[in-house]
Amino acid sequence: MCCSGARLIVQRLWRRLMLRGVHYTSAESRLKLLYLLNDPWKLGSSEREKQRFLWANELIQREFPSQKSILEIGCGEGHQSSYFARLGDCLYGVDISSRAVGRARRRCPTGHFVVGNALSFVPVRYFDLVVAAEVLYYLRDIDLVLDRMCLLGAACLVTYFNHHADRLDPFFEGRATTKASFSSEGTSWTARWWHNSPRA
Ligand SMILES: C[S@@+](CC[C@H](N)C(=O)[O-])C[C@H]1O[C@@H](n2cnc3c(N)ncnc32)[C@H](O)[C@@H]1O
Repeated sequence: MCCSGARLIVQRLWRRLMLRGVHYTSAESRLKLLYLLNDPWKLGSSEREKQRFLWANELIQREFPSQKSILEIGCGEGHQSSYFARLGDCLYGVDISSRAVGRARRRCPTGHFVVGNALSFVPVRYFDLVVAAEVLYYLRDIDLVLDRMCLLGAACLVTYFNHHADRLDPFFEGRATTKASFSSEGTSWTARWWHNSPRA
């Protein structure tokens, strides 16, 4: 077997090991170790993810046409951030992985990225829109993060795989959200968005 073949096998095993059992556990140290790999979720090379990024941008342009600032929770390496950056020049991102944030800064030089936990980092400002795309699966207390998002901005948007809908839909039942779905290459996602009460 050639070196690159062996490397691919090791990377696949590492990814599988780091992601085993992480869902809904807030296993931050595992997610940080996952980023020893570049692009662990293959977000940069997949056509379906590109279509998801474009779908999210269209939704934001349609539903939040006057937004001027976005906070992206769980921005990772900035793949989706580089699409959000097309919507304006005030994009902020936060992620628990310093490796991911370093890559996001390089990928999306106009964005402002910080290392931090979505539940506890100190925001630099109040945002027009707070986005958590493909992040909720990695958090233990979903209600807590949704409440925190409501405090950080005037409106919020989350997306998740429909594969996780049975688990995540119930968290939105008591919240006045609007819902939409999107499919690409056999994968479907749900988007939920809502407006928060104006700050006193
Ligand atoms: C699947 S990636 C999503 C990347 C990007 N939002 C997208 O949709 O393409 C999930 C990201 O959430 C981050 N994350 C998980 N828990 C977090 C937390 N408590 N605070 C900040 N980021 C977190 C992970 O480090 C990872 O980069």
